[in-house]
Amino acid sequence: YYPRGEERKNYILNSHPCFSSNFSNEDLYVTDLKHALCLFINNTSYRTDRQGIIFNDREHNIPVLKDVWDEKKKRIKARNFAIFAPTGEGKSFLANNILRQYFEMGVRLVIIDLGGSYTKFASLYPEQYTVLRYESGKSLGINPFFITKGDDVTPERLEDLSVFLFELIGEGTKPKKEQSVALKKILHAYYKKNAEGHSLDSFYTYIESQRENLLTQLHIHSDYFNIEGFLHILSEYVRDGLYSFLFETSEDQSYKIEDKRLIVFELDEVKDNKEILSVMLKLIKTAIQRTIWQNKEEKGIILFDEFAKQLKFDNVLESVEFYYQAIRKQEGAIGIILQSINQLPDNSTSASILENTQVIYSLNNEKGYKELKNRLSLSSHDLNQLKSIKNNLSGKRKYTEIFIKIGKESNIFRLEVPQEVFAAYLTDGGDNEAIMAFYKESGCMEMAIKQFVQLKSKEL
Ligand SMILES: Nc1ncnc2c1ncn2[C@@H]1O[C@H](COP(=O)(O)OP(=O)(O)OP(=O)(O)O)[C@@H](O)[C@H]1O
Ligand SMILES: [Mg+2]
Repeated sequence: YYPRGEERKNYILNSHPCFSSNFSNEDLYVTDLKHALCLFINNTSYRTDRQGIIFNDREHNIPVLKDVWDEKKKRIKARNFAIFAPTGEGKSFLANNILRQYFEMGVRLVIIDLGGSYTKFASLYPEQYTVLRYESGKSLGINPFFITKGDDVTPERLEDLSVFLFELIGEGTKPKKEQSVALKKILHAYYKKNAEGHSLDSFYTYIESQRENLLTQLHIHSDYFNIEGFLHILSEYVRDGLYSFLFETSEDQSYKIEDKRLIVFELDEVKDNKEILSVMLKLIKTAIQRTIWQNKEEKGIILFDEFAKQLKFDNVLESVEFYYQAIRKQEGAIGIILQSINQLPDNSTSASILENTQVIYSLNNEKGYKELKNRLSLSSHDLNQLKSIKNNLSGKRKYTEIFIKIGKESNIFRLEVPQEVFAAYLTDGGDNEAIMAFYKESGCMEMAIKQFVQLKSKEL
């Protein structure tokens, strides 16, 4: 016997998931999970979202859109993301792919990079990007005290500035209300007394010259503001202090980034100095607050790449966490890229970062995914999916496979890109050097990539 006509139609239409109740009991049978899943796979396909980032499905390589922003926040509450994989597995390549597409949808990007993986992508948009590079012993050109006119001294501005100073003196982000009020009063008085030349140095001098009667004048109890301690800690950052060069700038350069949509901070040279790096991150945050995200409705993403080693330093981890707190009020997201989840130390700061990270990407990891499963409380289904990841980075058609979990939903996607795109994203090796050499010659990244692709096709 085999079904024909209407019967056959009945079998075909109802053998989709959730339709089994239309079968009679005689049609049903019990089988093991493997067998059932084999049939199940034939009945489902990748669902493409209305909007999102383009990936490929792993079965037929068909492009699919994956909505990892979740405009209405139906699937996630915070859209911050993290990418995990050992070195060379394609994290920065994936981040290039995600960021480029966001950028083209009008999202503003701030990339804080210690490894130079975004230079090619950024230089494809010469009008819209800017790079602020840290050079040893020089300031980044950010002056958080800088104002252009008196009305710039808004309560919000004083609030941000006081938070910056508390962070700088190591009081953390949540100083006591009494302390915070005291510092804001002093800042306010400083701006009233001094019409120009605002800087950390001049603020320092102001407090120092008034140290005898400043608190009495402003009706601040000495318990609420420790002038001596404040001057002592800040002495490292002013005059001939060890780190004074970080603040040596009269003009604020942040106007340079004001209208740029793609901003890269290259901090390669500061990698190993945790003190400078953490001050740098705080300065960058003030610049972002003042310029990029003045308009809270505007979408933006801040990405931290190659920060793994630095996150072990307490004050760097905290500086990164400050960004998470700041972005809550904005239409934005923060992305971090790590080789292993263990690079986030097991403490409350990391816990708060992970809690706020609801979009997870993981690439292939030969060492397994146990830590990831434990720290992120992944399900066994998630783990099975992770274990099924396979890359092909040596064949003719190269791709990586990626586990993406957004809120509670997870799936595996593939990332296979055209040659030109590959050239724009690749981060290392001779190919990268070849493209950069072409770029140096012509000063045009698009042309350099075309030349490279031509060169490659001749080689084949
Ligand atoms: N989806 C992909 N398709 C083709 N090639 C890829 C893909 N992903 C990665 N690659 C190749 O692998 C190289 C290394 O990738 P990438 O720099 O992204 O690794 P990473 O995980 O960021 O490493 P690290 O931790 O050292 O920064 C790229 O330069 C590129 O040549
Ligand atoms: Mg990388």
